[in-house]
Amino acid sequence: MLSSLKKQPADRIIGLSALYNADPRSKKIDLGVGVYKDANGNTPVMRAIKEAEKRLWDAETTKTYTAMIGDGGFHTAMADLVLSNSVDRDRISFCATPGGTGAIHHVLELVKLTGANPTIWFSDPTWGNHLSIAKHLGMPFAKYGYFDNYTRSVNFEGMISDLSNVSKGDVVVLHGCCHNPTGANLNKTQWGLIADLLLEKEAIPFIDIAYQGFGEGLEEDAFGTRLLAGKFPEMFIASSCSKNFGIYRERCGLVMAISADPDTSEITQGNLSYVNRQNFSFPPDHGARLVTMVLTDTELRANWVAELEDVRLGMLSARKKLAEALRVECGSDRFGFLAEHRGMFSRLGATEDQVNKLRDEYGIYMVFDSRLNIAGVTEEKIETIAKAVIAVGI
Ligand SMILES: Cc1ncc(COP(=O)(O)O)c(C=O)c1O
Repeated sequence: MLSSLKKQPADRIIGLSALYNADPRSKKIDLGVGVYKDANGNTPVMRAIKEAEKRLWDAETTKTYTAMIGDGGFHTAMADLVLSNSVDRDRISFCATPGGTGAIHHVLELVKLTGANPTIWFSDPTWGNHLSIAKHLGMPFAKYGYFDNYTRSVNFEGMISDLSNVSKGDVVVLHGCCHNPTGANLNKTQWGLIADLLLEKEAIPFIDIAYQGFGEGLEEDAFGTRLLAGKFPEMFIASSCSKNFGIYRERCGLVMAISADPDTSEITQGNLSYVNRQNFSFPPDHGARLVTMVLTDTELRANWVAELEDVRLGMLSARKKLAEALRVECGSDRFGFLAEHRGMFSRLGATEDQVNKLRDEYGIYMVFDSRLNIAGVTEEKIETIAKAVIAVGI
């Protein structure tokens, strides 16, 4: 039976890491994979998480199952963090999942369970896994314009024009903040206009928020999610704790599904639980428990907020310095967008050929679509990167 399986296309970002690891050049630079790295190239365990782990080791007396939808304390702490008081809690159903990826998959399975067959709309471009999960689940999907490759900013006119074609009940996936892969984000006015349009179309927003705290700040990065949560009768949120709590391998994510009223929410809640049961029964607990401890303990929370803020400001500073170094190299402000983008990524707007040249001739690795991880742009590498970018003709 297994011999009839077809080869699956390799994940190009994971493949890039393998290429990087096999490269013997000592001065190679990794701007590819989507994990945060500090100035030494490490992805550290955050201080508050380490401390929470110590406390948990002392306090935990059992490893028996949690609830099928995960721990209630985790749901509340995350709803506070992501949604604050933008929507009544009795309209939200929850489900802890293995990472944000699990939450995205879970929401789409929930949509399938409704029996509707809506089109799922994704930004063009978007995180590659969005499209492949929808494809894997056999769901119809479409793309809406998002990025202007010339200005390297949001192509808002194109976005509005494409989203004017959504049908009632279609699901529109929006990145809550720190758009992956472009780094270009909606401003407050644009969030408002998108909300108005989708309300008029009776579409259902689905917010993927995987980088809260990496962009403008913890509260600011939740602006769009909260705005929409306060306006729409139905909405989905997939939240990831991988990046902002630095707990990638613990696989910690959460679905929050907003229903029109508490009665519907109860049924939604039962369906979310059902989906978990069919897939893996109980969600991972360790990461969720650490996140709950960090968010609900004053001292741990302050420690986490401070470290996250350092991470954010470090990336912001790297953006400004790289934009400035490129300005010096090319004599114009055409890379100014790097300082305007937010989050861990920016799309440079290079051709695949130029990206390959950067890798082959300069040992600089970025994703084939010219997404670079700004966390890899450390002080001592800035000049090298800037010179190489100009040398390959970007
Ligand atoms: C836009 C986006 N959504 C969701 C995720 C999910 O992350 P994880 O499954 O590791 O929590 C990622 C991770 O790269 C992402 O970039």
